[in-house]
Amino acid sequence: AASDPDLVARARAAKEKLGERVFVLGHHYQRDEVIQFADVTGDSFKLARDAAARPDAEYIVFCGVHFMAESADILTGPEQKVVLPDLAAGCSMADMARLAQVEKAWEALAAAGVQDQVVPVTYMNSSADIKAFCGRNGGVVCTSSNAEVALEWAMAQKGPDTKILFLPDQHLGRNTAVLELGIGLDECVVWNPFKPNGGLSAEELANARMILWKGHCSVHGRFSADVIDDLRARVSDLNVLVHPECQHEVVLKADFVGSTEYIINKIEAAAPGTSWAIGTELNLVQRLAKAHPDKNIMFLDRNVCYCSTMNRIDLPHLVWALESLVEGVVVNRIEVDPKTEAEALVALQRMLDLPG
Ligand code: 13P
Ligand code: SF4
Repeated sequence: AASDPDLVARARAAKEKLGERVFVLGHHYQRDEVIQFADVTGDSFKLARDAAARPDAEYIVFCGVHFMAESADILTGPEQKVVLPDLAAGCSMADMARLAQVEKAWEALAAAGVQDQVVPVTYMNSSADIKAFCGRNGGVVCTSSNAEVALEWAMAQKGPDTKILFLPDQHLGRNTAVLELGIGLDECVVWNPFKPNGGLSAEELANARMILWKGHCSVHGRFSADVIDDLRARVSDLNVLVHPECQHEVVLKADFVGSTEYIINKIEAAAPGTSWAIGTELNLVQRLAKAHPDKNIMFLDRNVCYCSTMNRIDLPHLVWALESLVEGVVVNRIEVDPKTEAEALVALQRMLDLPG
């Protein structure tokens, strides 16, 4: 749907009044009505870097979800204020790993006699206190665009017997370990935080190289291998391009796998007339289809499925946030406490220092 012209004019006017004082970041899964006001767009890795690259901006308005705004706060100066236009824009995957659960798992790993071999790695899609946990326990943050190098780094930390505790997305952890690092599927186990000892026996833990937290993305987890088979039967020379948050069997059937930034680059480089089924968030797929009318681009699901929390950031919320800033009122500020921030920064900095 077209954006309300009155709100478009108000957002434009407020941005103009704020000038260089405000920097608006937009994740690729944001609505078109919001993305049009982003100074930069990107996947979560690029946005983390971009946020850190504007030390002169007084306000960072983050059009994305809560964990991204927290990371921006951690990576920017103390005088810079990060605003999330709707505080209800969370992430159900990030909510699947709570600090108390992770601390309990860590103790259980100590009791099982394996903690000394374990390096915690958390996906960017986690709360700041989980990143801090990784920072203080020799671990690292990763995103979907650097998971391979992050896992290689982690696997080299404790010698040949290293194990990784991967939080909170079991699919990104499994897909990267098996497809990029050549780790066996049978060397990956799933830690269920609702069961004693994660639901794992001492033997399973001893043999595991990847301990995958039982979390997933409610959007990417929906794509199914059946739909790939159906589409391939109907569309000749179909290219299937999916995000690594998809289930392992979906990724195995796909032709290409990568982060949102990778997906965009792949479509931009594709030849006219080629066909693509894309397994990622719908706002991005629709935007790619619109931008590339010479390519046959389709969504890899029979149903409509947006990320409902990404979609919470809409034009009315953005206008409210910007107009409040014009009046000198900082609404919805995301501020990580100093101790968590310092520890989380250690893990984020390890990620930013990875090669590549
Ligand atoms: P990337 O931005 O790393 O591709 O992650 C996708 C995602 O689910 C963000 O919430
Ligand atoms: Fe979280 Fe998935 Fe939405 Fe990303 S797409 S914010 S991982 S629920």
